[in-house]
Amino acid sequence: MRIDILTIFPEMLRGVFADSILKRAQDKEILRVYFHDIRAYSQNKHRKVDDRPFGGGPGMVMTCQPVVDAVRAVQAQAEAGRLIFMCPGGKKFSQTAAAELARASRLILVCGRYEGFDERIFTLLQPEIISIGDYVLSGGELAAAVLADAVTRLLPKVLGDEHSAAEDSFSLRNERGEPLLDYPHYAPPALYAGLAAPEILRGGNHAEINRWRREQAEQRTRERRPDLFRV
Ligand code: ADE
Repeated sequence: MRIDILTIFPEMLRGVFADSILKRAQDKEILRVYFHDIRAYSQNKHRKVDDRPFGGGPGMVMTCQPVVDAVRAVQAQAEAGRLIFMCPGGKKFSQTAAAELARASRLILVCGRYEGFDERIFTLLQPEIISIGDYVLSGGELAAAVLADAVTRLLPKVLGDEHSAAEDSFSLRNERGEPLLDYPHYAPPALYAGLAAPEILRGGNHAEINRWRREQAEQRTRERRPDLFRV
């Protein structure tokens, strides 16, 4: 997969991609990442990328010319790909959305700042608009990093153990097809601070272990995330 990220703060993101799973995916040549500074496309002599909103109100708006030109130039560098703008007003990101995006061969992620984008940018470019949750960040950079991480770990051969993504929270489902949170995990020692790891996990009966884990996942989901269940 190729991921292009358009931002006015490329330095903010480099570190995220230089470690751990995102680094490993690039080392294995499963992922290629390119950063593009939107400011470099501004035709303004001060490299301005924002302006005050028509109609007044607080904050600044990212203007059409630098964003549209940057996106079009980056799009032209390779196959079209999926164009995604990171905005708090977008469609909510989820594990299902991550799995669906993991099937694409190219993602172009555009990060906003200030109060948002001039609406004509969306009209012209017809992007997908994605929010990572119902809260407002100072810009789309952290949201793009979240999306890229969630998608990358689903790409084939990125994770060492092929099964580890399939057992994560939200990937597990109950018999009604509802997503479940992950079950609790324990590792040695068997006793720590007077707390024992459950006997059943140390007994080696895999059918019983699987049943216990399913029950725990159901119970945990019911307690913490009843909204994930239809009834
Ligand atoms: N930019 C600012 N807040 C955001 C959010 N919640 N999701 C995506 N992009 C954003």
